[in-house]
Amino acid sequence: MSGGAGYIGSHVTVELIQAGYDVVVADNLSNCDLTCFEGVKKITGKSDLPFVKMDFCDHAATEGLFSSFKIDAVIHFAGFKAVGESVSDPLKYYSNNLGSFVNLLQVARAHGGCNVLFSSSATVYGEPEKSPATESTPRQSATSPYGNTKQICEDILRDSVKAYPEIKGIALRYFNPIGAHPSALIGELPRGVPNNLVPFITQTAVGKRECLSIFGNDYPTPDGTCLRDYIDIVDLAKAHVCAVRRMLDGQMEQPYEIYNIGTGRPVSVLELVTSFEKVNNLKLNYKFAARRPGDVTAIWADPALACEKLHWKAERSVEETLASAWAWEKHLAEQ
Ligand code: UD1
Repeated sequence: MSGGAGYIGSHVTVELIQAGYDVVVADNLSNCDLTCFEGVKKITGKSDLPFVKMDFCDHAATEGLFSSFKIDAVIHFAGFKAVGESVSDPLKYYSNNLGSFVNLLQVARAHGGCNVLFSSSATVYGEPEKSPATESTPRQSATSPYGNTKQICEDILRDSVKAYPEIKGIALRYFNPIGAHPSALIGELPRGVPNNLVPFITQTAVGKRECLSIFGNDYPTPDGTCLRDYIDIVDLAKAHVCAVRRMLDGQMEQPYEIYNIGTGRPVSVLELVTSFEKVNNLKLNYKFAARRPGDVTAIWADPALACEKLHWKAERSVEETLASAWAWEKHLAEQ
């Protein structure tokens, strides 16, 4: 698993191990430390979980990984993900996010091929004409280099499976992953000021940030704030187990498949803030502020295809998820 020590990677590692798979975690630790990796070992009781500190842009290191382990499937998380930074430094994003993926596929081919799961994003839909978005909802041109790297990586995988029968691929398009493992031993660890809503909420609640700004309350939505599909991180992680199983068991109907990973339930920013206050019994300091450039008004998933083909669906309620996010932030505060 590339980028396996991060927020999504660590939750996926737990679910894969608990489903009986052997996992190798590889990460260059450019955007995280080993906190979550250590948490994964505690949760799973797997103190000998293999970790390789490496960069997937490094051809020799990737070669070394494939020579040292028998790899049946790769889940590719490694990549930069700050939308704003991708606008100010696009080449950093194109060289890293595209370079690492191309390199990984080349090395996988040289070792006889592989099943490849790519972590894509609902950002590829831009502002869809209507929600829920299905997998055949047309992609819109990306509004940031980060979003563009997701689209291009999808295309790289699509073209590679077409040309090379030894490569099979699944792209999972995540909606908005939030929350933490129920153990509170792993969760999101943003560096600096969080860009995303839920870490900003929890950091405000714990006193690390003074006030949450809700970006825009004049959108054409029921309460004026944006609508998103917030997907619990453990539910999202389980979708990876289903996708890996489908690939390894030879169940794929096409060599390249795409699935939306969301709940199908639109929730407004204000609703999310209010639920957070209610479920955790606290008052959050927030104010309405100007819209954030680049934000779409509304997007949520039609997850029917994942339900039918991956036998997966989101199970945890928003309330449980928000309680887990708060438990994780409190756990961090106790460190
Ligand atoms: C963002 C990225 C998306 C990326 C995803 C990864 C943008 C435009 N999109 O999605 O490309 O794949 O994160 O997690 O950055 N909000 C506030 N106050 C805050 C933070 C957010 O009101 O301090 C609002 C936003 O306006 C938005 C909602 O909360 O309506 C969710 O924001 P966020 O968590 O950043 O996710 P997205 O913008 O949907």
